[in-house]
Parts: sequence; structure tokens; C-alpha cells
Amino acid sequence: MIGKLNHIAIAVPDLAKATEFYHDVLGARVSDPQDLPEHGVTTVFVELDNTKLELLYPLGEKSPIKKFLEKNTAGGIHHYCLEVEDIDAAISQARAHNIRLLGDGLPKIGAHGKPVIFIHPKDALGCLLEFEEV
Ligand code: CO
Repeated sequence: MIGKLNHIAIAVPDLAKATEFYHDVLGARVSDPQDLPEHGVTTVFVELDNTKLELLYPLGEKSPIKKFLEKNTAGGIHHYCLEVEDIDAAISQARAHNIRLLGDGLPKIGAHGKPVIFIHPKDALGCLLEFEEV
């Protein structure tokens, strides 16, 4: 059911500094910042050969990243994303194993224009897990 690692998302308290770290210090290819108001984040993508990193910075008062940064003031890994071929099948499989899904348990269109769903960290080894249909 599970395919490739799609991305690792890192919440950061200072997006410009985080971008500089990857671009200037580590020499990575980075995107321009992108506001995603429907997700409450501004993102910068770091392109790696085999996957990407998403630097997440809060956008708006109701940003899901805000609380995370209050607890993790230096930033930290917010979630990781694995690809699935069929998100409805992945959701059924999770439900069949009593694995909790975030929100209303229905897939939403994610940051890359594809359906995504989040698995509760308490049911996923302590780390928020995203499935993205590819
Ligand atoms: Co993600």
C-alpha cells in the first residue's frame, strides 16, 4: 500500500533563516516562499535528489503550525508524507485497524493539489503522518 517518501515537513520559527540555512550553508535548491492560506502556512520547498523538505511557517491566526512552534520554539519535524496509490483504500485500511484520522476523516486537497489525509500521531508511532495520493 505504501509507496515513496514524498516529503518531510519541518516547522520553523524564522523562514528566512531556515531558507538561508538550506540554500547558503548546505547548498540546496530552494523555492520562493509560497503562501497557502487554506492550509494556514507559508512554505519553502527544499529540493533534494530523492525527496523534498517543506519548511513550514505559520500563516494567519488559526495556523495549525502555531501551537507546534509554541511547544517547539526552535522548530522541529512536524510531519512526514508517504505516497499511496489510492487514498480511499488507504483510509479504509486505516479504519479497519482502528487508526485515527485527523479532521473529518475525509481526504482534502493538499499543498501539491493532490488528495491528502493525516493519521493521528498517537496511532502512527508518535509522528504526524500524511498520506498523499499520487
Ligand atoms: Co505535508
